[in-house]
Amino acid sequence: HTDTQKDVNPFQLAKPELDHICSSINQTLNTQMTELREMAQYYFDGQGKTFRPLIVLLMAKALNAHGKNTDIISQSQKQVAMISEMIHTASLVHDDVIDNSSTRRGKPTVDSRWGQRKAILVGDYILSVSSLLLAQLRNEEVVKILSQVIEDLVRGEFMQLGSKEEPNDRFNHYLKKTFKKTASLMANSCKAVAVLSNCSDDLTERAFEYGRNIGMAFQLIDDLLDFTSHESVMGKPTAADLKLGLATAPVLYAAQEHKELNALIMRRFCHEGDVELARSLVAKSDGVYQTRLLAEAHSAAAIGLLKEFKPSKARDALEHVATMVLSRNK
Ligand code: FPP
Ligand code: MG
Ligand code: MG
Repeated sequence: HTDTQKDVNPFQLAKPELDHICSSINQTLNTQMTELREMAQYYFDGQGKTFRPLIVLLMAKALNAHGKNTDIISQSQKQVAMISEMIHTASLVHDDVIDNSSTRRGKPTVDSRWGQRKAILVGDYILSVSSLLLAQLRNEEVVKILSQVIEDLVRGEFMQLGSKEEPNDRFNHYLKKTFKKTASLMANSCKAVAVLSNCSDDLTERAFEYGRNIGMAFQLIDDLLDFTSHESVMGKPTAADLKLGLATAPVLYAAQEHKELNALIMRRFCHEGDVELARSLVAKSDGVYQTRLLAEAHSAAAIGLLKEFKPSKARDALEHVATMVLSRNK
């Protein structure tokens, strides 16, 4: 921690706007169809981390201070924060169908409460309402930036489903997938508010790179917590990735030390005892430690990118967010 950032609680700084985001999302999902409405609003209950709106709002505040003498967040920038959280939530509703997950944010998933068919439709519904909001911005560049996120999400998820890459290419494939499934949303949402702030190309690029690095660190820690945390803390199943056949950073690092893991990764841990063997080899290796080091490097890179930002509370809060990502336990 630096001297400046410890005074700034990022959530506190953006609190009025964050509260507003959640209620505005609920308003946009306020359809006459009672069951669809209940399902669509199910995760917007004020219990989520709202991590994406947080960085979007802080980025908007930090960049608006350049040029103009105000850090007031514009209506369109608030809409980007909403759209970002809605795309994220829609993708989670679908993700829980794909992963056959029964809990999320400490409660039953949409899928386990209402069934797969309705869960898929409600994910589509949230995504379609977010697309309407996006169109209402009447900004072609921002429409392109945020549509790219949706394409990346689908491609990232597809890459994860049935990959058969060479052992040498595996880590690259993992990083590419991680960008698409997690970092693209944060990177492009930051870029979208930068475009809306009319800041310089250099700052726009820095905003994108900040979001990308935060996103990479965020997912690396998520993949690490899958090995080290517990469902009661996370509010969603842990020790789940291996069972789903997924080799994430801790296993990929462990395989460099314990070559016998390569065969298990190739067959996606599908033989009896594979999951347990892989877990114990990861525990014996420095895979978790290496994963944390990589996440730390991304967090440091994110902080480095803020150096050209005009000094402000929002900038300090963004710096704080970069350290919070590493210390989160859920
Ligand atoms: C969570 O990952 C899932 C994602 C980050 C992306 C999921 C994307 C899709 C299902 C593509 C469809 C997209 C849209 C916009 C409808 P995880 O399973 O590793 O994390 P978890 O532990 O939180 O479930
Ligand atoms: Mg998944
Ligand atoms: Mg999942």
